[in-house]
Amino acid sequence: ADPLKIGIAGLGTVGASTIRLLDRRANALAASCGRGVTVTAVSARSRTRDRGLPMERFRWFDDPIALARDPGIDVFVELMGGEEGAAHEAVKAALDAGKPVVTANKALLARHGVDLARRAEKAGVALNFEAAVAGGVPIIKTLREALIGNNIDRVYGILNGTCNYILTKMEAEGLSFDACLKEAQRLGYAEADPTFDIGGFDTAHKLALLTSLAFGTQVNAEAIHVEGIERITTEDLLAADELGYRVKLLGVATRSEAGVEQRVHPTMVPKSTPIAQVDGVTNAVAIDADAVPELTLVGPGAGGEATASAVVGDIADIARGQAGAPFGRKTGDLEPLPAAAMQAHKGG
Ligand code: NDP
Ligand code: HSE
Repeated sequence: ADPLKIGIAGLGTVGASTIRLLDRRANALAASCGRGVTVTAVSARSRTRDRGLPMERFRWFDDPIALARDPGIDVFVELMGGEEGAAHEAVKAALDAGKPVVTANKALLARHGVDLARRAEKAGVALNFEAAVAGGVPIIKTLREALIGNNIDRVYGILNGTCNYILTKMEAEGLSFDACLKEAQRLGYAEADPTFDIGGFDTAHKLALLTSLAFGTQVNAEAIHVEGIERITTEDLLAADELGYRVKLLGVATRSEAGVEQRVHPTMVPKSTPIAQVDGVTNAVAIDADAVPELTLVGPGAGGEATASAVVGDIADIARGQAGAPFGRKTGDLEPLPAAAMQAHKGG
């Protein structure tokens, strides 16, 4: 079969790592997918920035939307970020042109996920987003495919690498909040606007996607009660430590007879629990499923290489011809989030 031709918009932390990983794993991908995978076209803001990539191999597009529509690519990979603007327009353009899309953009999906899934459904193509939640941890496939035999009551965890890195460093090394955040930015963990990380919004975007997959509901980030870690001090962490706790920023989605409740806030977790042991950029997602109670996936939650691993896995699925429903069922079958969720949100 002909190689699958990939167009990538966004050549930053994740985009550049994705190109390197596709190169490194070219033979393994071809063997697993039955066809080669090759990046043929790219787009970023700056054409001249040195990215350590073999740019001469790729066709260049100033406009990511033109790349998304380009007949010379088979798959569009969006790694620019942003919930509106270029990322949104380019993903819509690709899907409407009948091209499968891979994205790591949880902000985009939390706001427009159902509409984009509907467009993918109409075109009969994949919209894959494994990298959008918990970086290299394969939680999307786990919920969408592997756990289909389960009824799920709760999904929760540490979903933001930047926050967990900051909290861990502050506690272990007594460094200031600002110094830890700067280091997380330098390592490529933080969002372009780190308010999304430390304010809890990035965790909320990811939780909204997990909720939809776990409970078969529409994506609704607006229904989430959100508190971030900006006000946490080293003294708070030490006081919690003395009492036998660690402070973690958790996202929690619970289903009960009253409906689905989603919340994000710093939480005191007993040191003896597995989730309290999760340090640094590592994420952990715990699922209360009836056939496999207390299933927890732990792994690198941010960073170029780990996130690229998830992007490459999504591309491989497309190369194999797989195109399941983005949120595990047809968009028309996703239930509206029950009113209880909205009440919990309004109530703070
Ligand atoms: P970066 O800021 O490192 O890279 C963004 C890239 O997009 C840059 O190459 C930039 O170009 C390009 N870009 C931005 N706007 C435009 C535009 N309008 N037109 C063309 N190109 C544009 O971001 P990351 O790689 O860290 O993140 C990318 C996505 O992956 C985001 O959605 C993020 O939330 C998500 N993500 C990131 C993770 C991480 O650990 N970093 C983990 C999981 C998900 P230029 O280089 O020229 O400025
Ligand atoms: N800024 C995000 C984080 C990137 O720190 O978790 C991974 O989604």
